[in-house]
Amino acid sequence: MSKFIYILICFFITASCSKQKKHNSDPISLENITPKPQKITVEDNSFKLSKETSIIFNTEETKAIAEFFIDKIASHTGLSISLAGESQTENTIQLVLDDALEVNNEGYRLSISKENILVKAKTNQGLFYGMQSLLQLLPISLESYHLDAIQLPTGTVTDEPEFSWRGWHLDVSRHFFSVEEIKKQLDVLALFKINKFHWHLTDDQGWRIEIKKYPKLTVQGIQKNEESSKKEYYTQEEVKEVVAYAKERFIDVIPEIETPGHAVAALAAYPELSCNPNIKYQPRELWGVDYNIFCAGNEKVFQFLDDVYAEIVPLFPYKYYHAGGDEVPKRSWENCSSCQKTMKENSLKDEEELQSYFMARVEKIIQKHDKIMIGWDEILEGGITPTTNIMSWQGEEGGIKAANAGHDVIMAPASYAYLNFSQGDYRVEPMAHGGDVPLEKVYNYNPIPADIADDKRKHILGMQGNIWTEYAYEGKDIEYYMYPRILAIAELTWSGEKTKNYEDFLKRLALLYPILDHYEINYHIPLPEGPTADNIAFIDSVTVEFETTHPVTMKYTLDGSQPTENSETYKQPLTFSENTEINIASFLPHGKVSKVRKLQLKKVTYKEAQKPKNVQSGLQIQTVKGHFMDADEVPTPNGEISIIKNIEATNTAYDWGKEIDTTKFGASILKGYIEIPEDGVYYFASKQEQVKIADSLIINPKSTLKRFPIEGTIALKKGLHPIEILYLNNVVKGWASDWNEVEVKFRRAKQETYKAIDSSMVFYAE
Ligand code: ACM
Ligand code: ZN
Repeated sequence: MSKFIYILICFFITASCSKQKKHNSDPISLENITPKPQKITVEDNSFKLSKETSIIFNTEETKAIAEFFIDKIASHTGLSISLAGESQTENTIQLVLDDALEVNNEGYRLSISKENILVKAKTNQGLFYGMQSLLQLLPISLESYHLDAIQLPTGTVTDEPEFSWRGWHLDVSRHFFSVEEIKKQLDVLALFKINKFHWHLTDDQGWRIEIKKYPKLTVQGIQKNEESSKKEYYTQEEVKEVVAYAKERFIDVIPEIETPGHAVAALAAYPELSCNPNIKYQPRELWGVDYNIFCAGNEKVFQFLDDVYAEIVPLFPYKYYHAGGDEVPKRSWENCSSCQKTMKENSLKDEEELQSYFMARVEKIIQKHDKIMIGWDEILEGGITPTTNIMSWQGEEGGIKAANAGHDVIMAPASYAYLNFSQGDYRVEPMAHGGDVPLEKVYNYNPIPADIADDKRKHILGMQGNIWTEYAYEGKDIEYYMYPRILAIAELTWSGEKTKNYEDFLKRLALLYPILDHYEINYHIPLPEGPTADNIAFIDSVTVEFETTHPVTMKYTLDGSQPTENSETYKQPLTFSENTEINIASFLPHGKVSKVRKLQLKKVTYKEAQKPKNVQSGLQIQTVKGHFMDADEVPTPNGEISIIKNIEATNTAYDWGKEIDTTKFGASILKGYIEIPEDGVYYFASKQEQVKIADSLIINPKSTLKRFPIEGTIALKKGLHPIEILYLNNVVKGWASDWNEVEVKFRRAKQETYKAIDSSMVFYAE
């Protein structure tokens, strides 16, 4: 059945059943608007939207909104409506500004009667949101199909947002995203009434905005990689284009110029702005937090920032400017005579207070332009000025402290608001920063923590979803992180605690997927989780159980084929006693399928234990120098063999802030025996390039980025079994393996918790 016919049938069912249903959950019900409106009154009638329908407006700005939605309606439905002529009064959509309407400045009232549609608001922004709600009532059609008329349910929606800050943040430094990629996101976010775009324009890895007075920023300040021929910054004209595009969608753009840390790209262009101008800085190719920052004792730095703001303020016509302030290692300030002199002269007791001094000076520059400064919560450490606003990311504590002290706060605590964190099991999901931020957790977040005094609640402006892009390489990757979680943020910030309801949201979400498809959004579909390894060994039989982060249908095959609509639906744990290949995927209600998960279940016998002679505690290790990306590149080691007492002893160093010591690059091969406590099927988990147990290669991620362990299984008899580990000291896609603990963990198949293989379990034979 084609998508269109399916939607049309849903639509007629809705129309004919609406008398019986109080809470209609079909696509065009007023109850299906997202974010959920504050108040909905459903009437028992319909309005016919057709080619004859036209939009009445009475100011030039309102006309722009009318034209915007004429285009949107045509694109969503294929139906062309028009601007109204002078005399038209019937079959209209009327946009009316009304100061007396009892909603806030972003609120609206959408009234659909049999004859007309009336959208009222105090502001054009309100009218825009009323029209976005109306747009969601229209069925999405295939591009090739043109509807002649659409029946809309009658009723009234009276709506306003709970929070004024409903935001999205994008880091364009770690990876660069084009103007077109950003516009695409803004267009979709506007459908859901997101109204702030926080644009993280500068960081250690790249300075991404043209500053005419400092042209080297976008030459030396951009990482040179294989793709360096690409222009990876925005000209001021392009910035204006993005800001204008956002403005048309009532999204304010908040630029962030990171200070005093995360500044290596700027220092690469202008080393005189650092504490040590003799260093040859390069935009960082690694992730992490660099020790080199802007000097706080050098007037040139404040002149530079003054010049930068003089150029950017005309580009961003909104009141908020973000000045960074997070993750500032103080090492270069401690060792800098100018910084120390500034501390003395200003009676600053430590480097935290020096940071406060620095931020206060940045704030003065921003205030000169009548703008308001926002900083990340670390800037609270040395104290802040009374006019500083805080963005709370490390948790809620900074936000609570700031709001209780009377500062405005935007909540973005990482464990709820960082959309670059995994939304499902990291072993199944694509690379992300960490876990675990599933949709439900985001949805249930309340931006006003209980510890905020009643009279200080007003200081919480709202919340935003942040995307850091170390592991997002293309537009489709940021979409995967964003959707559907950004819709949860849109709803919790618009609808608020009283109106939101997760079960209801999930029902509506099913109806939003076709809209996201229309915009070609690569949204996340919950993947079949449960088994933590893809190759599972068993002795007699094995039971596999699947779950998803939120409810979707899973279907599977056992014959090696791809699951389809007609495949078996997963209902309960499956037990097998023979070798089996399971292909399992999630299916959304409108038929879209997730990535397929392939599992190999292998019936095995226990590997017999070995009885090596003269065993000693420890492991043998042999190292070969070189920058190897894959096991195949590693030559047979012929160097000296030494003994280490446990696997962790292979660790070189852990230091995010320094450049990686490339002289340490190489491969280490660890060999010996592991003592298995009892007969059983074991799961091993490691971030290493290879782990062989009992001569079986059970972990072999093959040159991928090793931020998280992967797992392998094997059945072992109690006793000693050979173990061989290949550790590559290298850098893959900005991640230094040197940052990982070198370890292998294990668990029995039926246990949940892992234990590291420690020195009591490893031996070598002399
Ligand atoms: C941040 O995530 N460092 C603000
Ligand atoms: Zn300094």
